[in-house]
Amino acid sequence: MFQTIRDRSAVFIAGMSETLDNNDDIVIRVATVDDTEQLIEFLHVHYYRDEPLTVGTEPLTPDAADVDFLRSNFPAGACLMALCNDRIVGGAIAGPKLPDIGTEIFEEARKYAGTKWGCILGMLAICERDANAFQRFNVDKIMHLNALGVDTSLRGRRIGERLVTALIARSRELDYPLLTVDCTSLYSARLIKRLGFELLNTVPYADYVNAAGQQLIRPPAPHECVQTYAMRL
Ligand code: ACO
Repeated sequence: MFQTIRDRSAVFIAGMSETLDNNDDIVIRVATVDDTEQLIEFLHVHYYRDEPLTVGTEPLTPDAADVDFLRSNFPAGACLMALCNDRIVGGAIAGPKLPDIGTEIFEEARKYAGTKWGCILGMLAICERDANAFQRFNVDKIMHLNALGVDTSLRGRRIGERLVTALIARSRELDYPLLTVDCTSLYSARLIKRLGFELLNTVPYADYVNAAGQQLIRPPAPHECVQTYAMRL
């Protein structure tokens, strides 16, 4: 049974020449329901403050419905946390998708219309429709990576890659035929591509506009699009 993935490579705090501590292990494990609030607290600092959909819409902090959606993923057993001596250094929030997601997500976007979360859901609904993963791969369930965040001071050191590699293993263990992800950031797209995921479609932020033609989500450079990727498991 998948429990932990250990990586013994040294981890350095950005700008410091000493290791994170004397024990260089990073352990990745499944986040239980009991870990929910601790991991959500980590994501408030190390995910939401940089994630392009969040910082590309006002107000800059996520709506409660957005955070509650992340919370709702934990019972499925595919949320992961990266720990270095009990300190959280990364998190992956994943959960199952069922074939009616295409309709459901447009309905949710309508329900939250006029809010930040509604605006974000509208973009994700377009990504879902255009990727068309259920029909494209002829599967009846999908594991979807909803959020990936790494400690701001430890980025670019493959912690994100290790989390996704562990999620691939965990999704296989849970018997999912497909793992998908909407990469809202250029950096997440790079790491997902490097791991061999297949690009399904690209939706430029510039194309997501209101009736007056105004761009609805304006993330900072270098983030220009959402790319949906998939991997058969
Ligand atoms: N500046 C420049 N390049 C960066 C930076 C940065 N700040 N951060 C990561 N990268 C590059 C890495 O060098 C690497 O590129 P490469 O493949 O060309 O070498 C790639 O982006 C990421 O590789 P990793 O080291 O495996 O990933 P990392 O541990 O840094 O985690 C992550 C990547 C999770 C995207 C991190 O940057 C982060 O937490 N971002 C904020 C939240 C976010 O945007 N999450 C992704 C949204 S999509 C989703 O959640 C499903």
